[in-house]
Amino acid sequence: MALEFNDRVRRIPVYPAASAYALPEDVALLASNESPDPPLPAVVEAVTQVLNGVNRYPDPTNAKLRGALSDRYGVPASRIAIGNGSCDILLAAGEALLEPGAEVVYAWPSFSVYPHLAAASGARALEVPVDENHLHDLNAMAAEITAATRLVVVCNPNNPTSTALPLDQIAAFIERVPRHVCVLLDEAYCEFNTLDDPDASIDLLAKHPNLVLLRTFSKVHGLCGLRVGYALCGGDEFVTAVNQVRQPFFCNAAAQAAAIEALRHGDAVNARVERTIVARLEMEDGLNELGIQAADSQANFCWFDLPGGPDSEREIVDGLARKGVLVRAGAALGRPGALRVTYGTQQQNARFLAALRELL
Ligand SMILES: Cc1ncc(COP(=O)(O)O)c(C=O)c1O
Repeated sequence: MALEFNDRVRRIPVYPAASAYALPEDVALLASNESPDPPLPAVVEAVTQVLNGVNRYPDPTNAKLRGALSDRYGVPASRIAIGNGSCDILLAAGEALLEPGAEVVYAWPSFSVYPHLAAASGARALEVPVDENHLHDLNAMAAEITAATRLVVVCNPNNPTSTALPLDQIAAFIERVPRHVCVLLDEAYCEFNTLDDPDASIDLLAKHPNLVLLRTFSKVHGLCGLRVGYALCGGDEFVTAVNQVRQPFFCNAAAQAAAIEALRHGDAVNARVERTIVARLEMEDGLNELGIQAADSQANFCWFDLPGGPDSEREIVDGLARKGVLVRAGAALGRPGALRVTYGTQQQNARFLAALRELL
């Protein structure tokens, strides 16, 4: 007899995982917005040291990591949440804030995990289409906020569209959100954004106790395999609530040690950002030569419509895979006929462009 699962399981969408894990090593993995750079030797060393003590549970308060983040960003440790990846904090926020009758507002297309929030909680999702430049339509989002709204998510830069709004527009939007509504600004890619200083949004926390900046070590720090993210919050209550709904040891010892060490290497972060910006320009040129105009990327990936439209998407994505280049198809991300391509190494990007040229 088949197991009888609850309603949530029928509602929760299955995460569209990249199909890269059983492939030969020379495949260009441009499908998951990962860093092409291996972890820093000092980070590997810090993790290796910690492995000798894994007969003990990790620190459930993440005190050292929160202290290091507090020193780095000037936010009190009591207002910093840690997670098993930032996704863990995102899902915990859904669990803590949402329930049947409540509403969550976010843009679409945006991060593919957001639909999970309503599905898992029974809340209603208001998905507000991005505008013709693939940007969040903040006016339309503000118009969807009702007495039932508990959570508004703004993804800046936005995944999968790669675009970012200037911070002053986001700041003006937050002013319009009632104080009892949590505004979660997902900044997974903020380090790659050249429109504003990545640290500038932190100043907004002093003014908005309902604001949460969601960040991660998965992208510019290149630690997605270890799973560690964090939230810088305008108040303590979000931290308490997301900790309440999760198991106590949500961040493992290796991840904590790696993140602490990674924070000591701001120069490496800057170098990665510079390489990403070079890749961005090279990819933009390469795509332009193929007659493709990508969205204005402020992230470590680009987003564009295929010249052949939705009908050509499968053929191109499969064709690229046969040539050893994995990218994300737009259909799975909310825009059939689009492609999302992570910037890899210079060689991988050139390989992608050559393969795409042949397929077009
Ligand atoms: C916008 C956005 N937010 C959050 C995440 C989650 O990252 P992680 O759980 O690895 O910190 C991702 C990952 O791709 C993302 O694109």
